[in-house]
Amino acid sequence: MDKPNPQNLRRINRRDLLWIVPSAITTGFFGWLAWRTYLIHFTKAGVSEPVWREGPRRAVATLDELAAPWHFKYFDYEYSGSPLKAVVFRLPQPVVGGLTVGEAHFLALSRICTHQGCVVNYVDNPELGSIAYNYRTDHPFLGCPCHFGAYEPLQGGKAVYGPPRFPLPRLRLEEENGVLYATGYETPFRPLEPG
Ligand code: FES
Repeated sequence: MDKPNPQNLRRINRRDLLWIVPSAITTGFFGWLAWRTYLIHFTKAGVSEPVWREGPRRAVATLDELAAPWHFKYFDYEYSGSPLKAVVFRLPQPVVGGLTVGEAHFLALSRICTHQGCVVNYVDNPELGSIAYNYRTDHPFLGCPCHFGAYEPLQGGKAVYGPPRFPLPRLRLEEENGVLYATGYETPFRPLEPG
């Protein structure tokens, strides 16, 4: 049997590199893309009944200020002695962790993104939102300007698109004499509390 010619082996290896390297790069890219798509769409934590921690009682809005569904108001709440950005909505339907007063439904959420802590904003134009956040819906939602994560108020603040995995923590609401009060917050309070 003939011995392999080392010259031929070297030539074959160089030629092989011309397809091995691009193939490896392409396979790696599509593998990364598939993994990222999986993370973005299929690894979102669900929203269940909150476990509340007692907090200061603060007036956050009057019922008149939230007279119709999708009216909202930003407010600051205290978390560990520091102001925490939050939002309260009136919603068209009850949601877990929210408050119902008569026929009106409310939900209060932290505005601190559970991905890397940017402040999320109320996105009131679903058409523009679908372009900027790639999240298609027919109603307002919360969007994070840093990496375009989207959160759904009708699902109790669940992360629905982008890098965030965990929902926005809810704040406990109570009503008295036409005023909504925040009286505590959900724990773990991500991302400020691990859990
Ligand atoms: S910090 Fe909000 S999506 Fe990254």
